[in-house]
Amino acid sequence: MLAIVKLGGSLITDKRKPFKVRAKVLKRLSSEIKEVLDKSKTKIVLIHGGGSFGHYVASKYVGREITSHGFIEIHEAMIRLNSIVLKYLRKEGVLAETVHTSSAFTLNNGRISVANIETIKGMLGKGITPLLYGDVVYDVSKGFGILSGDTLAAYLTNTLNAEMIVFTTNVNGVYRRYPPKRGLRDLIRVIDLRKLDLELRESKTLGYDVTGGMLFKLIELKRYIGCRKKVKVFIINGMRKDFLKNILLGRDVKFKTEIRVC
Ligand code: IPE
Repeated sequence: MLAIVKLGGSLITDKRKPFKVRAKVLKRLSSEIKEVLDKSKTKIVLIHGGGSFGHYVASKYVGREITSHGFIEIHEAMIRLNSIVLKYLRKEGVLAETVHTSSAFTLNNGRISVANIETIKGMLGKGITPLLYGDVVYDVSKGFGILSGDTLAAYLTNTLNAEMIVFTTNVNGVYRRYPPKRGLRDLIRVIDLRKLDLELRESKTLGYDVTGGMLFKLIELKRYIGCRKKVKVFIINGMRKDFLKNILLGRDVKFKTEIRVC
């Protein structure tokens, strides 16, 4: 089985502090990934987010054109984070290697127009776990744009025919309202993408950041994956020990949001 795993930026970094990695979380997630690779036949493509590295630097350019200097500045921050993530994975024994997003992908008006999929496929075939990340990339119509890890996850699921996507975050899944008033009872256990518009109208409280980020994931899934019955999509809390490992091994976890694509 091929699984796409997104390590959310707010999980592996502390978004409140610029350039702050959550080292313990990163170490534990790396060892869970190693265990899955050892215990099963599952292959994994890893993607990490920007968190307090990429988002922090990119926030200067919100509503403004990303200049060439901006491109380098944002990319540098992401390379810093990527080398830390790679270091933890290798330390735990994962044979991972980075595919640098800004070299492998081009956008056209925000949509992926060029993608070097062969490299990713080739690495997987050789037993390597490819590691990508949300980054700033060249956009033929806009100059530069942000290609988020969520978009990459949805796109790669389609092109690589993955059977599972796991979005690890620092919350328990998608809530009807955020912050939740009724704790886990506000957690949406299953979201049917075919009824997404309806559900969104019902849950206007899908707010900024945590849930805004969630909404974006769903939109990208709908856009890139369409109707593929086979793919299983989960949003889980990566702060919880063994949640990532168990979901990848096909076991259930106490709470999660499952996205039904079709
Ligand atoms: C963002 O990637 C990358 C940059 C801001 C350069 P993501 O959108 O995937 O990051 P997170 O997971 O939300 O932090």
